[in-house]
Amino acid sequence: MNVIRTVSGLRRAVADAKAKGATVGLVPTMGALHAGHVSLIDRARKECDFVVVSDFVNPTQFNNKEDLVTYPRTEAADCEKMEKAGVDVAFIPSVEEIYPEPDTRVFDLGPVAEVMEGAMRPGHFNGVAQIVSKLFAIVEPDKAYFGEKDFQQIAVIRRMVELEGFKLEIVDCPILREPDGLAMSSRNVRLDAVHRELAPAINRILRESIDFALTHSVEETERFVAGTINSTGDLETEYYQIVDSLTMQPVDPSARPCKGMVGCVTVYCGGVRLIDNIKY
Ligand code: PAF
Repeated sequence: MNVIRTVSGLRRAVADAKAKGATVGLVPTMGALHAGHVSLIDRARKECDFVVVSDFVNPTQFNNKEDLVTYPRTEAADCEKMEKAGVDVAFIPSVEEIYPEPDTRVFDLGPVAEVMEGAMRPGHFNGVAQIVSKLFAIVEPDKAYFGEKDFQQIAVIRRMVELEGFKLEIVDCPILREPDGLAMSSRNVRLDAVHRELAPAINRILRESIDFALTHSVEETERFVAGTINSTGDLETEYYQIVDSLTMQPVDPSARPCKGMVGCVTVYCGGVRLIDNIKY
């Protein structure tokens, strides 16, 4: 595995691979790699000849300074996992390498980025669009891989791709879960023992909502999920919203949750912000 820290080095490595006829897969990450990331890499490995993984904690997508400071950074362990998973290039740049000057681009991401995470974390999706568009412009991959835990993020990235005219396939990959159902996340390492025990309730309640939704409306199901989570120990729901799974827009509150709808939740668990979702 080639560890590359400069944009020019990455461009050269990718150009060499493409000159040999290789198809290129990109897995953008912020490091602190876990089995969920490895599943994205495995998929890229199966589908592409040359796999690039970026490992970069992107400051422009953090609307909360403390979250940026405390975000886990585990470069040595990440490199071991990437090497083992058969990654060709690990791109691990500095902030100065990616942003020699402040990135002032504002993307017209539209309604898809205005709800849920977009409403709670102003500027977050614009920052995601900044870094992902830079990576796409440098690597020009055939395919890029993203996890469905960040369900809304995928919809926003698809919108950015349309806006910028990138020619690539966005591949969305299923959420990987711990045996007790907790969605794998780099933030899970920040849960203390008590909250690590509590956190799987989020997925359990989301799964219970599938049965509940058979006889209740969207509005009632939203109330059921948020209310049940909030009455579980120290969990606090920031939002639970059932939306159209393509547009991310709210659906008719009196309708039955059904195929084509996804419920997205954000929960504070002992100060750690966890997200998850479920398809109806
Ligand atoms: O999902 C993430 O880890 C990040 O938002 C991404 C897509 C790597 C951009 O920094």
